[in-house]
Amino acid sequence: MKAIRILFVASLLAATLSCAERKPSTVGASSEVERRVDQLLSRMTLAEKIGQMNQVSAGGEVANYADALRKGQIGSILNEVDPVKVNEFQRICVEESRLGIPLLVGRDVIHGFHTVFPIPLGLASTFDPALVEEGARVAAVEATGQGVRWTFSPMLDIARDPRWGRIAEGSGEDTWLDARMAEAMVRGYQGDLSDATAMAACIKHFAGYGAAEGGRDYNSTFLTERQLRNVYLPPFEAAVKAGALTLMTSFNDNDGVPSTGNVFLVKDILRGEWGFDGLVVTDWNSMGEMIDHGFGTDRKDVARKSLEAGVDMDMMTYGYLSHLEELVHSGAVKESDIDQAVRNILRVKILLGLFENPYVDVEAGRAVQYAPEHLAAAQKTAEESAILLKNDGVLPLKADAVRNILVTGPMADAPHEQLGTWAFDGQAAHTVTPLKALQERFPGKVTYVQGLKNSRSRRERFDDVVAAARRADVVLVFLGEEAILSGEAHSLADLNLKGAQSDLLAALQAAGKPVVATVMAGRPLTIERDLPHCGALLYAFHPGTMGGPALVNLLFGDVNPSGKTPVTFLRTVGQAPLYYSHHMTGRPYNGETLLDEIPEEAGQTSLGNTSYYLDYGAYPLFPFGFGLSYTTFAYSGIALDREAYGTEDTVQVTFTLTNTGACAGTEVAQVYVRDLVGSITRPVKELKHFERVALEPGESRTLTVGIPVADLAFVGLDGVKKVEPGEFQLWVSGDSASGKPVSFEVK
Ligand code: BGC
Repeated sequence: MKAIRILFVASLLAATLSCAERKPSTVGASSEVERRVDQLLSRMTLAEKIGQMNQVSAGGEVANYADALRKGQIGSILNEVDPVKVNEFQRICVEESRLGIPLLVGRDVIHGFHTVFPIPLGLASTFDPALVEEGARVAAVEATGQGVRWTFSPMLDIARDPRWGRIAEGSGEDTWLDARMAEAMVRGYQGDLSDATAMAACIKHFAGYGAAEGGRDYNSTFLTERQLRNVYLPPFEAAVKAGALTLMTSFNDNDGVPSTGNVFLVKDILRGEWGFDGLVVTDWNSMGEMIDHGFGTDRKDVARKSLEAGVDMDMMTYGYLSHLEELVHSGAVKESDIDQAVRNILRVKILLGLFENPYVDVEAGRAVQYAPEHLAAAQKTAEESAILLKNDGVLPLKADAVRNILVTGPMADAPHEQLGTWAFDGQAAHTVTPLKALQERFPGKVTYVQGLKNSRSRRERFDDVVAAARRADVVLVFLGEEAILSGEAHSLADLNLKGAQSDLLAALQAAGKPVVATVMAGRPLTIERDLPHCGALLYAFHPGTMGGPALVNLLFGDVNPSGKTPVTFLRTVGQAPLYYSHHMTGRPYNGETLLDEIPEEAGQTSLGNTSYYLDYGAYPLFPFGFGLSYTTFAYSGIALDREAYGTEDTVQVTFTLTNTGACAGTEVAQVYVRDLVGSITRPVKELKHFERVALEPGESRTLTVGIPVADLAFVGLDGVKKVEPGEFQLWVSGDSASGKPVSFEVK
């Protein structure tokens, strides 16, 4: 009796201790949630636990899955968006499986569900996290309305090579911008977890996937730990702090280790350092693909490696389902590791309220699809996302002056294409193209000649469209690339406008009328050769369902462009990767001698020894953070509150922004910082703050923004993330390549 008492007290003590020691839950689980998780876990057989760790793709009839669901062999289904089927899946799980554990239904809701928003690269070009959050909320309301409670978004892969097709799916090249977008999307998708419209976010692809060698998708990466920690991981950490419920491992191997089996990334950094207690899922068959990588002998081997790395759920390899049980019995894996994985899965299901309310209200869900306020949000986002790259004064067009508008180009009326990559659920029939929007606004005044069937079409003569251009008073040409040319596994080695698009543009210009080009694409294309052939160029990425009206509003000045480049625009693809926050070489660029200036008898060193291309120089076409407006802005009076700061202080930057033009407009003011000397070399500039400022013509506003010195921390030579005291420079400007720095010191 006494022995039992001692045991009881000891276990109580242990329980109290483990409670006290437990790190705060990153996903916001309370001790009550933990109690429910443990209680359920204690009732599960090994087979039922393993079933929770298995995710399969739906396809076909519910009956195909009924047996496995009843036996508890499926923890999650992806790609089922028919709410009636979702409810039937849930009913089988809840009513007919032994423990009644509901399913987690996942889907790639990447930039909207039915109402499609601009592609994520376009979302980033708004520099407007609040608006992006609102868009993610809209996506969640629509997707959960059809039973999807988990999206595989946001993609947080830093991408500095526009050949990589998946650059479309992320926020571009910058760590700070990516992190802010990450937080916004996580907050937007998840909303209030107690609500039936909460959709779990899945931050992906962990990690480094965007650095694929040569921009070829799925390729190896060779990122050092320091680069990972300073450039590629901070957006993930920010998203974890924002409460992201789930994370996906990436396809790539970094320095020889595929992410799905990467103990250092998943177990040590994600779980250990960041304390992430959400659900980690593999990418589609990325467990199985570790065999192709040559990182495992067979499915059993890679299943074990994935579990050891801390991966909870297997998307489509069936490695856990087929092998974990025998791996436990042979002693090769510990059941406690399986318990840990199942805890992470159940925790998310409980937090989403799936046990209380597994079903979706089919009628109510239908009613919210394409709701007017959703379309309005999508339109506003498309308006903020378009970037004005050139304007010789032709824009904005005057609505009351146009009598005959020629609309042409392969993207003018391509509803499916303007939705961009990963728009599974957006429907062409609901999409408003620029042609449709123009015809609606200017009945009888629009002539449409397609010009080219699609972006890849080749054609030598453009007689019909040129004749139409001669008759028009303005030519609106919509160029770019179809949705299929970017996204997963759609990398390109040449980034010029495809097919005969550049020829079409040149032919239109020769007709002598004002030509305005709009480019819709999944990446920053190399458009240098096209710029001289148009009076103005608006870059819209793929703008989504409401792209048409948004672009028309921009072209006619109802809305003033305010988007900024979230990624450097290259002059030629051979410059890739080229990004603003590079490190300084020991022979910094200081002028150039280009090919046609090279003297006949030039010797090896006569051109100077600095870093640039002999044929293309050192600079991109447009720097990061760049975008014009119909008005102009001036920065003045940039001053800091002190000359020196401690590491705990905040730098207060004051500046005055003036709208120096003739119309109202919004500027994205950007603050960049350079750490002049470190224990390692540092980027020449890093974005540390941005802010959209709306100003009436002639209006000046003095703003003060705080830059916490802690935000200047980085992982230096000793591997520890901290601020290194010394001299710093700070810019406030409208893009990453302009402005004069002010200096400060950190002591
Ligand atoms: C992609 C992921 C996606 C998954 C599920 C994979 O091919 O890499 O981003 O979430 O498929 O559709």
